[in-house]
Amino acid sequence: MSAFVDLGDAVAIVTGAGSGIGRASAVSFAKRGARVVVTDIDGVRASAVATEIGAAAIGARCDVTNLADIEAVRDLTLERFGRVDVVMNNVGVLAVGAVEDIPLDAWQRIVDVNLLGIVRSNIVFLPHLLAQGRGHIVNTASMAGLLPYGFDRLPYTTTKHAVVGLSESLALYLRPRGIGVTCLCPGGVATNIVEQITFFGEPRRPRSPDLPVSDAEEVGELVADAIANDRFLVLTAPDAARELLERARDIDAYVFRLAEEAANDSN
Ligand SMILES: NC(=O)c1ccc[n+]([C@@H]2O[C@H](COP(=O)([O-])OP(=O)(O)OC[C@H]3O[C@@H](n4cnc5c(N)ncnc54)[C@H](O)[C@@H]3O)[C@@H](O)[C@H]2O)c1
Repeated sequence: MSAFVDLGDAVAIVTGAGSGIGRASAVSFAKRGARVVVTDIDGVRASAVATEIGAAAIGARCDVTNLADIEAVRDLTLERFGRVDVVMNNVGVLAVGAVEDIPLDAWQRIVDVNLLGIVRSNIVFLPHLLAQGRGHIVNTASMAGLLPYGFDRLPYTTTKHAVVGLSESLALYLRPRGIGVTCLCPGGVATNIVEQITFFGEPRRPRSPDLPVSDAEEVGELVADAIANDRFLVLTAPDAARELLERARDIDAYVFRLAEEAANDSN
């Protein structure tokens, strides 16, 4: 498929780009010629990544739970680069613990960051992209948004499923209007994600499918490729597609198999 946006001549904004997948994606976009606005709640990290990229990048502090911060990033980008072509909504935080141990305010925070962070971004950037009639949105979900492994981090699993659903429906609306949508569903990626975890009850290692862990740099390249080749779904672990097929063939059998495995794990 042909791209909605040529990264060689694009202006890209990435949230949560002070570290990990966001940082690597910003670097990949810049390597392909894009000018990049590196944003993060940690402004020092955002500036450090922008400095590392060089003259093609600027850094800005932006908390995705704050609409005014996102509006300020839009205004800064338009002032510095004259337009916005790519918006990568990449922030995700987790609460890990037994379902009954995770309090309501932890749920509210995770919905506010992981889901409403993207909703706010759409409110701020879609009018500009629609008026332009060109653009590309990347939403970082997770394999946890496609498969039910994460009962030990249920607010994360729930919001990542919501991000997948939001992205699919958004693609139906935006593609005829000249705007591509990519939903990134990584398996394990070596990043600083543990910093984003709040633990409740007994500390435990998050459950996950037995899939290889990727480098953030590989994932950044996959995201840039998805924009360049107009791909919707990006899986970092190709084997994950087998799980998705098994789930689609017989969801009862799939859920019951995983439940049995989970029960054996806890014995
Ligand atoms: N690392 C993995 O194994 C993995 C797997 C699947 C999905 N993901 C998703 O990838 C995305 C990026 O995670 P990562 O692994 O690169 O983590 P990371 O911790 O390396 O980077 C996340 C960045 O987000 C920033 N951040 C946190 N809260 C913020 C907020 N409210 N506003 C703006 N920035 C904020 C942090 O300061 C940090 O720099 C997340 O959505 C995560 O759910 C990661």
